[in-house]
Amino acid sequence: MSSSASARAVTAAEPPMPGLPIKLRTENVGMAFLRDDKTLPVLENINLEVGNGEFVCLLGPSGCGKSTLLSAMAGFLRPTSGAILIDGEIVRGADPRRIFVFQERGVFPWLTVEGNIGFGLRKLPAKERAERVGHYIQMVGLEGFEKSYPHELSGGMKQRVEVARALAVNPDVMFLDEPFGALDSITRMVMRIELLRIWQAERKTILFVTHDIDEAVQLADRVVVMSARPGRIQQIVSIDIPHPRDISSPRYLELRDGILSQIGLAHRLLVISAAHRKQNAGSGHSSPRRSFFYFGDTR
Ligand SMILES: Nc1ncnc2c1ncn2[C@@H]1O[C@H](COP(=O)(O)OP(=O)(O)OP(=O)(O)O)[C@@H](O)[C@H]1O
Ligand SMILES: [Mg+2]
Repeated sequence: MSSSASARAVTAAEPPMPGLPIKLRTENVGMAFLRDDKTLPVLENINLEVGNGEFVCLLGPSGCGKSTLLSAMAGFLRPTSGAILIDGEIVRGADPRRIFVFQERGVFPWLTVEGNIGFGLRKLPAKERAERVGHYIQMVGLEGFEKSYPHELSGGMKQRVEVARALAVNPDVMFLDEPFGALDSITRMVMRIELLRIWQAERKTILFVTHDIDEAVQLADRVVVMSARPGRIQQIVSIDIPHPRDISSPRYLELRDGILSQIGLAHRLLVISAAHRKQNAGSGHSSPRRSFFYFGDTR
């Protein structure tokens, strides 16, 4: 199996998908934190260009600096070195045009579904606000739950509220930090399909953090694979499969296995697969639907 079509070593700023104007650019971004009087390097030499309307996944092991990089891109953290630019301007702080969905659950428990989704729209006239809230409630399939409070919703519904709240403010960039991390596998799949549907309809620029390799290959135009801390860009993989993606197609498996191979897991997984095939002797093939997590799922 060859991964040459998909994987390249990363040396300089990686351009976005061909034909897309650049929306976000990182230039030699580095980040270090002070801990116990020692400097902890977390990110090094992050050079990346993201196209307008592009869907980019940041994939890497726990603790490699994905959330830190996303927070810096969104303006919540100032990089220790280098610069981050959006629309050619240096990011100096959070901006209401850009929205961040946090790794930890972020719905407001004291607000109803419509209160949560309308939270960022308080400046709009009431009629317009109600229309916008209604539109996104419908888009994420929460009709009938407008007056419900978060404790009355399932985990997946709460995450849909978060995604709807993010979309309702009509952001031009969405930063999503493992937004489906706490969900069961079926709800995750449904949420991925919903996010893709919304992205295809609205073409936001999306930066999506995950350490689930399948999630990245199912969603992204490009997957940015990061090394363990201090996080660097190890490789960038273009996922040249149109949506909806057939996750049992040879190309899907080739791209996914190319990433596994790049991060040095292919050999270990081959051993597991061989054991799996032996167990399922007669079925003819191994399951392409199992999820692989980069260096383990730490949740
Ligand atoms: N504010 C902070 N002060 C000190 N250290 C921090 C701070 N934020 C993050 N770190 C450290 O930076 C490293 C990267 O953290 P980060 O949360 O970015 O990782 P991550 O890739 O998102 O991991 P995970 O997949 O587990 O969410 C960790 O070692 C963490 O302890
Ligand atoms: Mg994180």
